Amino acid sequence: MKKINCFLILTVLCFMVVTSNSYSQLNQSDKDALIFAIQEEKVANNFYVAMDKIYGLNVFENISRSEITHMNHIKSLIEKYGVDNPVTGSYEAAGSFVDAGLEKIYEDLVRAGSVSVTEALRESATFEEIDIRDLTGLAAATNNSDIKSTFNLLINGSENHLRAFVRNLESRGIDYKPQYLSKDEFDKIVSSSNSGNGNRGNCNKGNRGNCNGSNGNRSNGNRGNGNCYFTK
Ligand SMILES: [Fe+2]
Repeated sequence: MKKINCFLILTVLCFMVVTSNSYSQLNQSDKDALIFAIQEEKVANNFYVAMDKIYGLNVFENISRSEITHMNHIKSLIEKYGVDNPVTGSYEAAGSFVDAGLEKIYEDLVRAGSVSVTEALRESATFEEIDIRDLTGLAAATNNSDIKSTFNLLINGSENHLRAFVRNLESRGIDYKPQYLSKDEFDKIVSSSNSGNGNRGNCNKGNRGNCNGSNGNRSNGNRGNGNCYFTK
């Protein structure tokens, strides 16, 4: 009888360990992190869509799509853990955010980016720096392995985006300097290869399908320019 009781207790304990990460309630800090992060990715998406409408650059179109994927990664966690999704109803519309601070950031980005294509690219690179900084802080602050791994995935994607915007600026003769990351962090990111799930260089509109390297086909002489297909 004692053996059966021990077996039952061990079975229950194993079940609790296996399921604790998936089904336990999140603490408020983790909930707030998900609510903030999905809105920050939406700022990026809405901003790049707006810039693509003005300038018609593939880098904006491609990365705006990637931001939707980022949002969907976070949305999966929001649904899994039963957190209230801030991106529903009227808040799904471009430029509309539950978080008033993020809405103001979006408006400021669009205003600054509308001045010229180089300003749009500069603002984009700076926003990716902010995104990397914020996600790094949020990933470090959580003990939930689901959330941590998702934020780390998004950091990789944002690093790819930062490289793409910096290279677009380079191709216009502009040497972008980091605004939020340290010079060492920035140099390390920019000199690295793209990770497999991010933007693959600076794609030209209408030329897709042949991007098979980490940084895009360079056949046009510009770093990362070429025939690219963007996946994330
Ligand atoms: Fe991004």
